[in-house]
Order: sequence, then C-alpha cells, then structure tokens
Amino acid sequence: MKNIRNFAIISHIDHGKSTLADRMLEITSTVPREKIKPQMLDTMELERERGITIKLQPVTMEFAFRHAIPKSKLQIPNKSQISNSKSLKIENWELENSNSTFMLNLIDTPGHVDFAYEVSRSLAAVEGAILLVDAGKGIQAQTLANLHLAQENKLTIIPVVNKIDLPGARIEETREEIAKLLNIKNEEILNVSAKTGQGVENLLNEIIARIPPPKGKREGELKALIFDSVYDEFRGAIAYVRVFDGELKRGEKIKFLASGKSEVANEIGRFRLKYESAEKLGAGEIGYIVTGEREIKNIKVGDTISHDSPAQVSPIPGFKIPKPFVYASFYIQGGDPSLLRQALEKLSLNDSSLNFAPESSKSFGQGFKCGFLGLLHLEIVKERLEREYGLNLIVTQPRVAYIENGKSKIENGGYQEPWVRLEIITPQEYIGPVMELVQSRRAIYKNTSYIGDRIILEYEIPLAEIIVDFYDKLKSVSSGYASQNYEFIGYRPGDLVKLDCLVAGDKVEEFSRIVPRQRQMTEAKNLVNKLKELLPRQMFEVSLQAAVGGKILAREDIPAMRKDVTAKLYGGDRTRKDKLLKKQAKGKKKMKQLGKVQIPDDVFLEMLKR
Ligand code: GTP
Repeated sequence: MKNIRNFAIISHIDHGKSTLADRMLEITSTVPREKIKPQMLDTMELERERGITIKLQPVTMEFAFRHAIPKSKLQIPNKSQISNSKSLKIENWELENSNSTFMLNLIDTPGHVDFAYEVSRSLAAVEGAILLVDAGKGIQAQTLANLHLAQENKLTIIPVVNKIDLPGARIEETREEIAKLLNIKNEEILNVSAKTGQGVENLLNEIIARIPPPKGKREGELKALIFDSVYDEFRGAIAYVRVFDGELKRGEKIKFLASGKSEVANEIGRFRLKYESAEKLGAGEIGYIVTGEREIKNIKVGDTISHDSPAQVSPIPGFKIPKPFVYASFYIQGGDPSLLRQALEKLSLNDSSLNFAPESSKSFGQGFKCGFLGLLHLEIVKERLEREYGLNLIVTQPRVAYIENGKSKIENGGYQEPWVRLEIITPQEYIGPVMELVQSRRAIYKNTSYIGDRIILEYEIPLAEIIVDFYDKLKSVSSGYASQNYEFIGYRPGDLVKLDCLVAGDKVEEFSRIVPRQRQMTEAKNLVNKLKELLPRQMFEVSLQAAVGGKILAREDIPAMRKDVTAKLYGGDRTRKDKLLKKQAKGKKKMKQLGKVQIPDDVFLEMLKR
C-alpha cells in the first residue's frame, strides 16, 4: 500500500484535465505514444466530439519514481486545518524506496457544474486532488466549487498551473491567485503544459511525494465503496469500487450492505483503458467487480461491499443522489413511444441522475417528463437519444420544478420555487454590466470578495431566472471573461402566478407557464404576440388571450381569412352584393362559435422555445 497513490484531477471546464491525463498515460507507458489520441479518457463519442468530459473515468498507471524528494515537502492544508490553525501540523511520510514502482490510480472528472455529482463521487475514492488552473484564464467559478468539494473530503491538494506554453499565459498572476486562495507559498504550485508535456513527469513525482498512501488495513474485513456503476452489454452491471480495507479475491462471495444481497465476484480487475481482470484487489486499490448481476439498480452507487460472512462491518457513508430540478418533456416525432421508453431505460443505466416518468399531451401523444441536473445535462441526453437510438424527438422548453402550496395558494401566491447560490467570477472592468444583469433577475446580493484583480460576486437567485439564457448573456456582457457556478439551496415561496393561454376561448395547457407576478403583464403580452405571429389565419376570427386566475391580461385577435364571395358577381344591383357579404359574416360568426382551431405542430414547437 505504500506504493499506491489515488488521485483525481479537478478544474473548471476546459482547463485541460483530460489532456493532462493523456500526458500521464504517455509518460507512464500505459498507452504507447503512437496510440495516444487527444482526450483518451473521454471514451463516449459525444465527449470526443464536443471536447467535454461527461463521465468520471478511472485508470491505473505504473510509474517508476526516480527522484528523491526531500522529506520536508509540505502537505497543502485542507479547509478544516486552515480554519483551525492549531491542527495545522505538517505531515510527512517516508519515501523509503525512492527507486521503486508506484501504482497510480487516476480519476479524470468532468468540469461542468451539471456533472458535479461525478466529481463528488470521484473525490470519495481518492486521497489527493490535482487542482488544475488554466494560465490563460486563471481561477474560475468551478475551480472554486471543485476545490471546496476536495477540501470537504479532506484531500491533499496539489495546485498546478496548466497551459504555460500559451503565448498569452498569465503564469505569475495565476500562481499568485492560487497562493492566496489556498493560503500557501508560491513555491508549492507547479507549472505544466499538458499539451507539450513540460513539467508532467515532475508532477508525477510530486504526486508520489505529497499525496499520502492509502490508510486501510489489508488484513481487516473487506470494505469497498461503490463510487460508480455502469452497464456493459456483455458483463452486465459493473461496480466501480475503491477498496478501503481487506482484500477481495476472484470467485469470493460478497455482500452488498445496503441491499443485503449476496453475489459471487465472478470477475474483478483494474482499469487499463479497458477492463483488465485480476486475481485480487487489495486495500487502497481502485478497480471493478462483475457479479453477473444484470439489473443495474441492484448495484447501488454509494453502497458498501463486504465479504458474505457473519462479521459485522459498518458501511462507508454513501452519497446523496442529487435531485433534478430542471424538467422538460420528451416526445417522439411520428414514432412508437415505447422506443423512447426503452432508450431512456437503457440510458439511465449509466446515468443515475436521469429521471423520467410517463406523460401524455393532447398534441404530441405519449411521452416522458424527464428530470435533469441542468441544461447541459438535458442537451446531452437529448443528443444521445437521437444519435445512439436513432430517435427524432420533440423536446419542450426546460422548466424548473415548482411546488404548489395547496390550500394557501391564493394568499401566498401559490408556488414555491428552487433557489440557488450563484457565484460569479469576473474581471473588475465588467462588474457594472454583470451586476446589472443579475439584478434584473430577482437576485439577492450577498457578498463580494477578491482574487487577484478579479471579483467574486455572490448572490441568491431563483433557478428559473438562470436556466435558459442567463449564461450566454453573462458571457456576452463580460466579453466571455465571467464564469458562473451555482448550487441548490432549497425551495422558497415566490410571488408567482400561473399564466394561462386561451386560443379561441379554449385553454391550451402546453402554452401555460408560471411567471413572477411582477412580470405578468409583460409575459402575457409577449405570449399573445408571439402566438399571433405563429398561428396561421383560420376561416374565422380567432382570439388569443393570456389570463391569470380567470382575469384576461392581454389579448390579440387573428383576423379571419378573407374569401372574395362577391367575385362571381358582375354588374347588377348593390343589394345582391350586400346580401352575400351579410351571409358570409353570419357564417363566420357561427364558425367562430363552433370552430375549433387546429394548432399545427410546428407552432407548438416554436412556442416551446424561448
Ligand atoms: P472538461 O472535461 O470538459 O472540463 O475539459 P478538460 O478540463 O478535460 O479540458 P481538455 O483536456 O479537454 O482541454 C481543453 C482544451 O485545452 C483542448 O482544446 C486542449 O487541447 C487544450 N489544452 C489542454 N492543455 C493545454 C496546454 O497545456 N496548452 C495548450 N495550449 N492547450 C491545452
């Protein structure tokens, strides 16, 4: 165990985690140099195409530690040590055999806030984290969020500045920002270029020197934490585990403590970019277990695995599964809804945060209401369904989940909505427009702090205000420099009303929405105006109304299509013409009373977009 190091790479989006992992795979000869592809650990087609990491990915490497590092190397203090400076005792561990080979277990994590659950699970399986910061961009919002997660897990943090090869790299400024943030000496920060490989071998040495080896007891009772589970067509459900104590051998009987189920570990092994089976997995290691279980829901992320023996083993604390609070409905365009169900079921096998429940709509038929962790998550799920399962989907506009207040509906405005703590990091010169943007969205200002010459603004804000177009606007008012992160803080009652839409007197549920009372007038006008633009003329006049609680707030009429009923008349008496027009008007009046407006599908779709 002395020769094992477990670590994750964390950062803001695009600061270079997967590229750094590539260089490590290369230097440790885990993958031959000629076979390295950019972002090797992003195995999903969509990850590769978009250049983003969606799922955590572990890999085991071997590295011959060559350089003796003085024992006096400092360990970066974690958050609780900083807040309680009395316990700030610098720990050292001995590197007795500085020429031996080490097993390095790396977990590459996603950077986007929607996939923070992947990061939090990865961090529970390791002792250290490389905090990677892009020298061109400096510390950004997810850098902080992920750092806090690492500190909560009491990990050793190795701060690293990346992209030092970039012509515009602000290396010194970035180092200063990090030193201040972590309250450490500038010399403890490393520089690398994940692109050219400069500094990466040194980083591997520092990982061995600074991150403590795992602490478990190899002779103890088996205790392994499931930090991820995936479905493999050939092997069935696979548990990704970190063994904390004891040892597991192939063929042994194991027990899942939460579900109480017993199974046989038919195959165990390590991650070598593919599954590489092994005879045993010992304390401190990261690997996988296959039991032949086909039902992935029986392999619960956060569960503890032990031997199936009478000994009492206390489970490792698990994870809180994040609740989705962004919803959208999915319908299949001209196809069999059961295909959509099958695809969603399959997809959710490898994405435990995807929720769905059947729903039906008058216009689109049978579909599913799906819950997501954020908009990128939604977009990724939609794209995967279309691409991997060949489906043609209709997706409604994403909304947050409101809670209706039951009886006190009228007095209280009726609804509770999800709120988030929003953190924005921006260069000073954009602070004006950024604050203006946030404050136009019902936000409550909380705090300002500084890192280097940039500002961290903290707000509380209803999630509904930022899910659709906020991020794009933030980027545009700050010329792309501001970054944001948010976390759910709870439901709060809001002064919200349900805006109904009536087409020719009929309520069309698909167009209704929940809006803040203070904006009900503008929203009502926008709604009818947009519909007026989209809806084709009918044979009769059609009224479009937006109403709250039965009270009409805005109205537009679409005039009837005119047919020249007098075209066939030539010459003759004026009264004949009048008679025809009168008959037409009467007919139209009757149609207006009886007529049903057919709303074309594409109007629904346009209305569902913002
Ligand atoms: P997410 O997982 O989506 O958060 O991204 P990531 O942090 O894994 O970043 P990734 O490795 O995908 O790199 C993002 C971009 O930065 C890619 O275009 C890389 O080629 C580029 N990049 C990464 N490291 C370096 C570096 O050291 N120098 C330069 N010039 N570019 C780099």
